[in-house]
Amino acid sequence: MIFGAVLAGGVGSRMHMSGMPKQFLPLGEKPIVIHTLEKFLLCSRFDRVYVGVHPQWLLHMQDLVDTYVREQADRVSLVPGGGDRNDTLFRVVAKIEEDFGESDEHVIVTHDSVRPFVTLRMLEENIDGALQHQAVDTVMASTDTIVVSQDGEKVTEIPERRFMYQGQTPQSFNMNLLKKLYADLTAEEKAKLTDAAKIFTLRQYPVYLVQGDVSNMKITTVTDYEIAQAMIGMGRK
Ligand code: CTP
Repeated sequence: MIFGAVLAGGVGSRMHMSGMPKQFLPLGEKPIVIHTLEKFLLCSRFDRVYVGVHPQWLLHMQDLVDTYVREQADRVSLVPGGGDRNDTLFRVVAKIEEDFGESDEHVIVTHDSVRPFVTLRMLEENIDGALQHQAVDTVMASTDTIVVSQDGEKVTEIPERRFMYQGQTPQSFNMNLLKKLYADLTAEEKAKLTDAAKIFTLRQYPVYLVQGDVSNMKITTVTDYEIAQAMIGMGRK
């Protein structure tokens, strides 16, 4: 079976803007997280779309589902999120197993709730890629040169740009393999983990690339939010 996991358990501390986590802020006529959820619901291959939500915002999210996607509410399940992104992700994994049981066939398409411009093409390619290769990551070739600095004061290395990509989401995985590899990590490895695809690369499992897009931006700062509002104003849905 194929599952969506929209990760909306964060509080948006880098946004410094309102009392509301950024995924609930309006973008055009609806909240950011609803734009994202609607993209998943457009894709009929998802058996169920899970949304990991901060426990204090579960009721609010349920209201949004009832208001904006009522006709498809039976395809959506809300799950209380955890202390960090991976914690939210693995709470969703646990809920999927509770609802549908464990299977080597389950695929999970994980996505930041604050990337509302994900496209149906990206979702389809993630599903196909995860079915074929077990793990895929949506990326964009880096147009900027990437500069590495270990100490934040001087340049350590300037890697060749043609090998550099910016990681986006969705990231999609065979769910059992994801769980198994994560369980095998040491506590130290888990603590340093900022990216779910790294669970695979740390154990030398190949992660295949899916083509992202500059429009598939993550809304992290107020400036990002302003850019997203301008994009919506220009008719991007
Ligand atoms: N996320 C989550 N559970 C957490 C933390 C983050 O599901 N405990 C989600 C966020 O809601 C967001 C995505 O992961 O959709 C990407 O994280 P980020 O942009 O870092 O969001 P926040 O953690 O909310 O932002 P900040 O780091 O500025 O606090």
